[in-house]
Formats: sequence, C-alpha cells, structure tokens
Amino acid sequence: MIFAGNWKLNMGPKAVQNFFKEFKEANINEETQKQCYFFPQNLSLSSAIAAAEGLNVNLGSQNIAAEKSGAFTGENSLEVLEELKLAYCLIGHSERRSIFKEDLNDIRAKMNLLNSSAVSAILCIGESLEEREAGKTNEVLKEQLETALLEVPETKDFILAYEPVWAIGTGKVASPEMAEEAHLFVRNFLKEKYSEEKAKNTAILYGGSVKPESSKGLSQMPNIDGFLIGGASLKVDSFKGIIDNSES
Ligand code: 13P
Repeated sequence: MIFAGNWKLNMGPKAVQNFFKEFKEANINEETQKQCYFFPQNLSLSSAIAAAEGLNVNLGSQNIAAEKSGAFTGENSLEVLEELKLAYCLIGHSERRSIFKEDLNDIRAKMNLLNSSAVSAILCIGESLEEREAGKTNEVLKEQLETALLEVPETKDFILAYEPVWAIGTGKVASPEMAEEAHLFVRNFLKEKYSEEKAKNTAILYGGSVKPESSKGLSQMPNIDGFLIGGASLKVDSFKGIIDNSES
C-alpha cells in the first residue's frame, strides 16, 4: 500500500516542520515510512526536505510546467524537482484540469516531459458526477489514460490515482465495490496497452474523501494499492489512522 498526502494549498513551511516533528514522534516504522508520500505546495518543499531528514518518506511536487525551463512566469520546473532530488510529481489532478483548465494535451505534454527524467508521475484520472450518471465513467477514464500515456514507454515507471471528482473534498467516498470496479478497468487498460507485468507492477491509488473509517474497506479490495489523501493527510493523527486501518 502507498499512502500519499496531497496538501494542496495548505501547510506553509512552519506547518510542514510541525507535521514532520509529530510524524517522527508517532514512531512509524521504517518500512511503513517508505510507503508514505507527501506533496507540499512548492514554496514549502525546501522546508519539507529539511524537516523530513532522517525519515524514509517520499516527497514530491503537486504540479510542473510542461516546458523544462524558459519564460514561463509563475510556473515550476522539472529541472528544479530534479535538483531537489524529488522522485514524484502529481500530474492531471482534477483541480488542475477543472480550475486551471489543463486539457488532455497539456497533461500528455507533462507526462512526456517526465519520460526522460528520473521523476515519476502520479497521474490522476477520474470522472465527474455528470459523467458517472450518464454511464460514461469507463469512457472518460479510457480517454484520460489513452491520451496521457500515448507516448509513455513501458519502461517508464508511473503511479495512477483514480479520483472520482464527485468524491474529492465532498465527504462522499466511493464504496469499495465502486472504486474496485474502476480500478479493475484501469488495470485491464494497462494490461492491454502494455503487458500483464506492467499492469501488475503499477500501483493504482484511490483518492476522494479517504478517512480512517473508510480506508479499511477500500484497502481490502484487490486492485486498490493505496490512497491519495487530501484533507485527512493534513494531521498526523488522521493520516496515521488511515495507515493503521489499512490492510496491505
Ligand atoms: P480529499 O481527501 O480531501 O477528498 O482530497 C482528495 C484529493 O484530491 C487528493 O488528491
């Protein structure tokens, strides 16, 4: 299981320091630490790197520019992620898609940029409530996967996160069965596009209102390999509660 905290526009440098101080005090064993991933806002990344020293957790960025460098005011570059030795980056989060109008081509460009780097994407996909109610969930997931992964070779590692838009920040978590159905669809997509092995070795996370109470049932599903957690990742207590309740 992977436990990834997406801190969105929360957690300034001081809050990040406090978080990792408490995290250290929670005595989470080394193996479990390796399963933990955190995505602070970029202005808090240096603070997170310093505060997480001595821990075995993974850190990453919530987003990158599709261009490596140049005149792109306000963007964050892959080159800096590489310099900071960060191994992960969220790509295509639904908030990037809906609020910042990133389209399928933008997301594909970001995925392609990572092809030749040591940074791995956590590619987020998911349908809106309207799309689910219209019976289009699989169609939407297929289109998002097909376009983003078009030029991504089998040899490039990435993680997928299924985050139904209607479950993000709403308190409405998908049922384990509903999430499993989508995860199985995604797994089969990987099998068809790449291979049985790639499908088996690619983690598929669930995200959307994951809380300690809901993590147990979800974690028991065979195709759910971890969680991408928003609100409940902001406090060590609830983040650890999710870990403790999950079955690996
Ligand atoms: P919540 O857990 O707050 O619903 O957020 C999920 C999410 O968007 C993680 O990327």
